[in-house]
Amino acid sequence: MNAIKVGLLGIGTVGSGTFHVLQRNQAEIRGRAGRGIEVSMVCRRDVAAARAVVGDAAVVTADPYAIINNPEIDIVVETIGGCGLARELVLAAIAQGKHVVTANKALLAVHGTEIFEAARAKGVMVAFEAAVAGGIPIIKALREGLTANRIEWIAGIINGTTNFILSEMKAKGLDFDVVLKEAQRLGYAEADPTFDIEGVDAAHKLTLMSAIAFGVPVQFDKAYVEGITQLQAADIRYAEQLGYRIKLLGHTRRRENGIELRVHPTLVPANRLIANVEGAMNAVLVQGDAVGTTLYYGKGAGAEPTASAVVADLVDITRLATADPDHRVPHLAFQPDAISNTPILPM
Ligand code: HSE
Repeated sequence: MNAIKVGLLGIGTVGSGTFHVLQRNQAEIRGRAGRGIEVSMVCRRDVAAARAVVGDAAVVTADPYAIINNPEIDIVVETIGGCGLARELVLAAIAQGKHVVTANKALLAVHGTEIFEAARAKGVMVAFEAAVAGGIPIIKALREGLTANRIEWIAGIINGTTNFILSEMKAKGLDFDVVLKEAQRLGYAEADPTFDIEGVDAAHKLTLMSAIAFGVPVQFDKAYVEGITQLQAADIRYAEQLGYRIKLLGHTRRRENGIELRVHPTLVPANRLIANVEGAMNAVLVQGDAVGTTLYYGKGAGAEPTASAVVADLVDITRLATADPDHRVPHLAFQPDAISNTPILPM
């Protein structure tokens, strides 16, 4: 069978990582997907920069619609970020009958209902493993591995930048600004790092996990969000002296009258596993009624960990693209008729 054809919208950190992982592991990926997966077009405003990544292996364009309107492209990967142009292009790709893979948590946390509904109506898939916790397959864990469970709560470190900052401030006594610059240099931070340090990025990811776990619509606007900008080195020191670490935790929990959805700095006893998650790593705890507590740990940011999740979604879609359309539904965020009206609790 011919290779499935992929168009990359954006070829920065995540796009380049995706291209390299697909190239390097193409034999294994072909075996697992049942056919080859080939990046045949890439889009970036700076065509020369895109060309430097892909060489002659793909067509380079500055026009995203050259990809979206190309009938030969099966899957569009969106790594542009933000909610403006990315929303327009994702909806346009869906309208053209393309499957979409995205790492864009902001887009899905804010416009997920519209995007998933458009995909459902068109019978295409929108996959977003890379949008939550980078390389950790937490979406698949929630949706597939834990599908037998009534999920009771999810808690975790889901922003690598802030965990890196808190770890470096603690270990080296460095200033917040110095460590933030290093996180940007290493490709962990968002283009606008305000989203990282104000807890918004973590809340986007938590909103998506909460929607999957509890079958509620994505409701980022209802989340309580507090970042780490008010923390000082002294707070970290005092916490340490009292036997605690300060971690930016996301927490969503089923209560009798609704669902808690909150991100804020939290004192965690120093002997807990999650207190010892350092650097740009993520860790997510999920409590299910049947399985008990499970823990997922790994790199939550960076080019290749995120690409690992993007490529996993490409393989999933490739496998399912030839299957009966009814079997595609679980790969959307939720089934519309299963959405619950359970409220998100005000904080
Ligand atoms: N800026 C994000 C983080 C990237 O630091 O976790 C991965 O979503």
